[in-house]
Order: sequence, then structure tokens, then C-alpha cells
Amino acid sequence: MSKQRIAIIGAGPSGIAALRAFESAQRKGAQIPEVVCYEKQDDWGGQWNYNWRTGIDKYGEPVHSSMYRNLWSNGPKEALEFAEYTFDEHFGRPISSYPPREALWDYIDGRVRTSDVKDKVQFSTAVRWVQYNREDDTFTVTVENLRSKTTSSSEFDRVIVATGHFSFPNVPDIKGIETFPGALHHAHDFRGAEKLADKRVLLIGSSYSAEDIGVQAFKMGARSVTMSYRSRPQGYAWPEGMEELPGIDRIDGEMVHFSNGETRDFDAVILCTGYLHKYPFLPSDLALSSPNNIYPAGLYRGVVWQKNPKVYYLGAQDQWFTFNMFDAQAWYVRDLIMGRAKLPSAEERAAHLKQWRTRFQGLGDDADDVRFQADYIRDLIEATDYPMFDLDEVVRIFLAWKQDKKENILTYRDKPHRSVMTGTMAAEHHTTWLQELDDSLERYLSTPERAGMEEILTGGGAASPR
Ligand SMILES: Cc1cc2nc3c(=O)[nH]c(=O)nc-3n(C[C@H](O)[C@H](O)[C@H](O)COP(=O)(O)OP(=O)(O)OC[C@H]3O[C@@H](n4cnc5c(N)ncnc54)[C@H](O)[C@@H]3O)c2cc1C
Ligand SMILES: NC(=O)c1ccc[n+]([C@@H]2O[C@H](COP(=O)([O-])OP(=O)(O)OC[C@H]3O[C@@H](n4cnc5c(N)ncnc54)[C@H](OP(=O)(O)O)[C@@H]3O)[C@@H](O)[C@H]2O)c1
Repeated sequence: MSKQRIAIIGAGPSGIAALRAFESAQRKGAQIPEVVCYEKQDDWGGQWNYNWRTGIDKYGEPVHSSMYRNLWSNGPKEALEFAEYTFDEHFGRPISSYPPREALWDYIDGRVRTSDVKDKVQFSTAVRWVQYNREDDTFTVTVENLRSKTTSSSEFDRVIVATGHFSFPNVPDIKGIETFPGALHHAHDFRGAEKLADKRVLLIGSSYSAEDIGVQAFKMGARSVTMSYRSRPQGYAWPEGMEELPGIDRIDGEMVHFSNGETRDFDAVILCTGYLHKYPFLPSDLALSSPNNIYPAGLYRGVVWQKNPKVYYLGAQDQWFTFNMFDAQAWYVRDLIMGRAKLPSAEERAAHLKQWRTRFQGLGDDADDVRFQADYIRDLIEATDYPMFDLDEVVRIFLAWKQDKKENILTYRDKPHRSVMTGTMAAEHHTTWLQELDDSLERYLSTPERAGMEEILTGGGAASPR
């Protein structure tokens, strides 16, 4: 019998998880299917593969990553740690709980650097179209090699979609926005806050991008930072110079009119209005269409496309958990593909989906969301040989993180958490996040004396935010 052929689209953390899942089975002696991963960028890492470009990349493709130069993890690393490759194993010593982007890219890469899974990735290759062939239950995947500018098609038995969903900006219409004379763009195109020094900055949106770009702008000395919310304010104890206002009625030149009647003048506006699920390489009957939520409709166990269970999605939900959730999903999908896990009938899947969607729709606050996602991951891991870890403890870490943010949005990244994988307590970083102006891996791993908090709080640090 010929081997099944599996196409993985995207080599970000989710696509790499899929590659690693198959490799793990192979190392344990199993015969694995033939796997081909297509990645449109020159290297893997997805969002973590930083791109200084905005808009269009060097091949004329939409730039994928929305990350900025000075991005640090916004959640504790103890909540995303791989259960089968720990931070201790990678770095050889305790590091802090909120590493900068480069350190996390290094960790993702490190797990697979010494294996041969990279050989399975065709880089600089964009998937253009996936066609389901009803007659023989296969897929034709058409790709373009962006270097040679050649297209080709291959047949596959299953398709794993791992292209992420934080790349195509959601850009709403706002009355009068076309009259705004200052700098105006979406968070997807934000690359660094240095140029916001001394500027009056408006961030539209009230989620992670608004929060983090807001504190970045503050750190880099913005004159003022205003965040406009649609549904509810973030509600943190913002430092002087940062504020939240409700939605926008209209923009008139540099003046913005808010729905509570207040007005402000701005030099820069950044739309932190989230992203669209967009899969331009999929026909509509295979393409997930959903708001950004933690249990999208149409995906059995969050991964199997109900309308065609030979199509799988990884990382398609909104994410409290990230890397270890992608692993749990990838291990489960691998086991379905390899026949180790049984796919229930369409009716059973629909009933399961309904049950989880109903629970999802009844969730109240963020704590409910985190517990729900932990239960979801537990359910997947129980069906596989991925190492189980203490998900209840990770929930507690998330709740402590939320509390730290509530207490001080500028210092939560200085707090250490304990790994549930190794029991190691995170190191206190040598420099507080607010004072650190060098986000490089080299600087992060260096060992200068730790700077004192008092110095920062009295404004004597390297960064002197207003
Ligand atoms: C600004 C920002 C900050 C974030 N910060 C954090 C954080 O601090 N901590 C955290 O845990 N998570 C963070 N995340 C969440 C992040 O989405 C996940 O950590 C992770 O990158 C998701 O992995 P993924 O593989 O599912 O998707 P992605 O990382 O988006 O990777 C998808 C891959 O698919 C490729 N691809 C897309 N289309 C095609 C195509 N047609 N053909 C071939 N290849 C294609 C892309 O090039 C990319 O490499 C952040 C996200 C954003 C946007
Ligand atoms: N490491 C980091 O520091 C960092 C930084 C940035 C982002 N991220 C990650 O990036 C991902 C995406 O985060 P995100 O904040 O960009 O997207 P998001 O979480 O999906 O939030 C989108 C925000 O846009 C608002 N919005 C949407 N349409 C709007 C409209 N028409 N008018 C006004 N507001 C509108 C939403 O408001 P409603 O609440 O009303 O829907 C919501 O506040 C997350 O996974 C996050 O963790 C991480």
C-alpha cells in the first residue's frame, strides 16, 4: 500500500508542531506518512520570524508577521512551554518569565534544529490553491516557488492548515478618518514605538495590541496615549499620560470626537482592531470563517473541519495557551491521520461540537475562558501520547498574571513564575522591562547587575517615560 501524503500549509509554531508530532512517532518506531510542508517565507517561525518590511514582502506577497522589533512575550512563558522540550533544556539555566521575541524564536527553533524535520519544509513556497477531488477523495495542492516563480501541483490525501490568523488586518470604516493628516496605520504594520516619542497617540481597540503598543509608546516617551474601546475598557490602572475613552463618533482632521462628547487632537493613529480569518488558497467550502474566539464553529475538537474531515486546522482559535496547545492539537491530528485515534461519525462529531460550543457560549469572564481552553487541551492530550502537564497549575499562573497586570501594567513582565514542566522558578531578569531598551537575544542572555526598581520608579532609569 502506498504511503498517505500529507500537506502542511505554514511552518509557524503550529506547522512545526505538526512536523514534530510525526517525527516523534517516527522516533518511536512508527511508519509515518509522507509529509510535505509549504512555507511562503524563507525561514520558519511564523509570527516569530520578524520581518522589518510592511505591506508587501520581497517576493510581492503580503507580509505575514505582525510582530514588532521590541515585542516581548505578553504572557508568562510558563503557560506556553512545550511539555516535551523545556526552557531549561533549551537555555541550560533559568530565564525570566517574559522573554523577548528573539528568545522565543530561538526556543521554537531549538526544539527541531538538530532533527531533520526542516528537510520536509519547502521554503519560499506559497500555497496558491487547494482543490478537493471528490472522485478519488484526494486534494490537489498548487504552489508557487517564489524564487523560481514556477507553479506546480501535487496530490495529497490530507491537508493541515497552519497559516495562523493574525496577519490580515481587520480595518473598519471610521467616519472622517480620511481627513486625518498624521501617521495612520494598522497594528499589523507597527514595527517599533521609537518614532512615537513626543507624539499624541490614539490606539483604536481594547485588546492585546492596543494594550501592548500603548505601553510601548509610553515607554518610548509618547506625549500621550489614548485607547478607544468599542465594547469595554481594559480597565488597568494606567500611568499618568495613558487613558481610555469610549468609541469614536468621527474624526475631523487631527481632532477626534469620542462618543462621550470629549475631543482630543492626535499626531498618530494606530488601528488595533484585530485580524480576519482569511485563507485565500481555500475554496469557501473548506475555509474557516469565524470571529476571533476560543471555539470557532465548524471545527470538531477545534481541529477537524466538520464538512471535510480530511482537512485540519491548527491554532485557529483565539489563544490563551499557545505553543503547548498547538502541540496537543498536532499530536491529536497526527493520531487521527495515522489511525491511532478514531474519528467519530459526522453525527457524533456534530453533537460533540454542539456540546463544546454551548459551553463556550456560556463562558463569563477571562478566568472562565482560560479554564475552558485548559479543559480543551486536556481532552486532546488524553487522546494522545503527548506528555500531560498540570493544566490547573497553568490556569493559576494565568490568573496570577492577570492579577499582576491589574496591579501594575508596566511591571507585570518583571514577575517570575514557576515552570509546571520542571518545577524551575524563573530568573529575575537583570533589567526591568520598562528600563530595557535592547531587546536582542544577546543582551537578554547577558548577565549584568540587576537594575533597581526604585531607580525606575523615580524616573532615573534608561527609559524615562513621561
Ligand atoms: C503581534 C502578535 C504578538 C503575539 N505575541 C505572542 C506572545 O507574546 N506569546 C504567545 O504565545 N503568542 C503570541 N502571539 C500569538 C501567535 O499567533 C502564536 O504565538 C503563533 O505564532 C501562532 O502560530 P501559527 O503557526 O498558528 O501561526 P503563524 O505564527 O502566523 O504562522 C503561520 C505560517 O504560515 C505561513 N503561511 C501563511 N500563508 C501561507 C501560504 N499561503 N503558503 C505557505 N505558507 C503560508 C506564514 O508565512 C507563517 O510562517 C502573538 C501574535 C501576534 C500577531
Ligand atoms: N506579545 C505581545 O505583547 C502582543 C502584542 C500584541 C498582540 N499580541 C497578540 O496578537 C493577537 C491579536 O491581538 P489583537 O489585540 O490585535 O486582536 P484581538 O484580540 O482580536 O482584539 C481586537 C480588538 O479590536 C477591537 N475592534 C474590532 N473591530 C473594531 C471596530 N470596528 N471598532 C473599534 N474596535 C474594534 C475589538 O473590540 P471588541 O472587544 O469590541 O470586539 C478588540 O478590542 C493576540 O493573540 C495577542 O495575544 C501579543
